[in-house]
Amino acid sequence: MRVIFLCPQYPPEMAHYVRGLAEVGAKVYGVGDTPKAALPPHVRRYLHGYLHVPRILDEDAVLAAVRSWVAGARIDRVEALWEPVVLLAARLREALGVHGMSVDTVRGFRDKEIMKQRIRAAGLRVPHSFRVSSASEAWEAAETVGYPLIVKPIAGAGSADTYRVDDSRELERVLDLTRHVPEVSVEEFVEGDEYTYDTVCVRGEPRYENVAQYLPRPLIARTNEWISPVICTVRDLSQPHLRDGIELGRGVLKALGMGTGFTHMEWYRKSNGEVVFGEIGCRPGGAHLIDQMNFTSDVDLFREWARAVCWEDVQINHSRRYNTAIIFKRALGQGRITRIEGLHPFLRTYGRHVVWENLLKPGQHRRDWLRTLVSDGFVMVRHPEWSSALEIADAAARGVTLYAE
Ligand SMILES: Nc1ncnc2c1ncn2[C@@H]1O[C@H](COP(=O)(O)OP(=O)(O)OP(=O)(O)O)[C@@H](O)[C@H]1O
Ligand SMILES: [Mg+2]
Repeated sequence: MRVIFLCPQYPPEMAHYVRGLAEVGAKVYGVGDTPKAALPPHVRRYLHGYLHVPRILDEDAVLAAVRSWVAGARIDRVEALWEPVVLLAARLREALGVHGMSVDTVRGFRDKEIMKQRIRAAGLRVPHSFRVSSASEAWEAAETVGYPLIVKPIAGAGSADTYRVDDSRELERVLDLTRHVPEVSVEEFVEGDEYTYDTVCVRGEPRYENVAQYLPRPLIARTNEWISPVICTVRDLSQPHLRDGIELGRGVLKALGMGTGFTHMEWYRKSNGEVVFGEIGCRPGGAHLIDQMNFTSDVDLFREWARAVCWEDVQINHSRRYNTAIIFKRALGQGRITRIEGLHPFLRTYGRHVVWENLLKPGQHRRDWLRTLVSDGFVMVRHPEWSSALEIADAAARGVTLYAE
């Protein structure tokens, strides 16, 4: 089993998938724009070969370079789990005649308007939306969609350039702010709770499923620095309020022709119980969601993803034992972390439920909270009871404070 894996060194968690591939018996050939000598040892040790390319996002150049590197040798899989390169992986598969999801299929997971068209065509509920590339088109779309509405990039990530718009005055302002984005969606604003639906699929069949709730909704968490965003996986997926969302998720996988691999979907549940599709990627969720899922079920999804991809098999005991919450912290002040308050009392009370404390330490420089969801670090906790998991998460959100100067 010879697997080409794009970007084995970025984002950092890719190292776990490379390790997983090696553990299930694959020979892994990395392609990335980090020089070979600069690859971390825990990545390099699992690689059978590595092709250094000048720019991984220069698709045509990478295609040509990989073609001549492979030189007609047999390749069994081409995989990528970082959103900006999933389409490149599909192009490489087609160019090299390798089994896996086609460019057309992957486009359904990358282009938010094509995505919604295909899902809508399957009779599933998506927000009413329009693809617009000029201010006049946006005004026209706003007429039809009505307020409140959302303006966001067609190929967005991390809630960048995403705005809720409540009236025409705001639309004017937001069109100004998003002028640098060539194409945006103007979309019905869906009021409700926000969840994920995550899977590892084999030939489109979910062989592992997960749901997590965002607290609060990402757009709010990402526009208010004082908030400590929490994401909590749900242990008990059989609860009635999740049923329709999980069904929606399964329908979406069919509508988009999912193949084998990870998916990460977001969906909304309105107060009247209606569920609405948000977005989906054919890649794992970021910001340690897979670690949370591993702690939820005591499994190793990095390896089981690899087993799915290589051998169309997933070996997982299906018990879900915990609700696992991650609490992201943002320091007060700018510059370097000077002290952390409240951590010791928190650990004294809840330490046995803490599976990972990964806060920045005094002396380290603050991260840009607008650019990274992980912010200035996080605490991860787990508990079999939903309400207890949230109570512990809340204690960390309110009680632990990082200061920077
Ligand atoms: N139609 C909508 N109605 C209500 N809220 C929305 C809508 N579209 C987007 N949002 C809010 O904006 C956030 C970001 O939007 P979306 O998930 O589509 O884009 P993204 O930037 O790719 O996401 P991510 O933050 O997951 O990378 C959502 O999580 C949600 O809180
Ligand atoms: Mg999103």
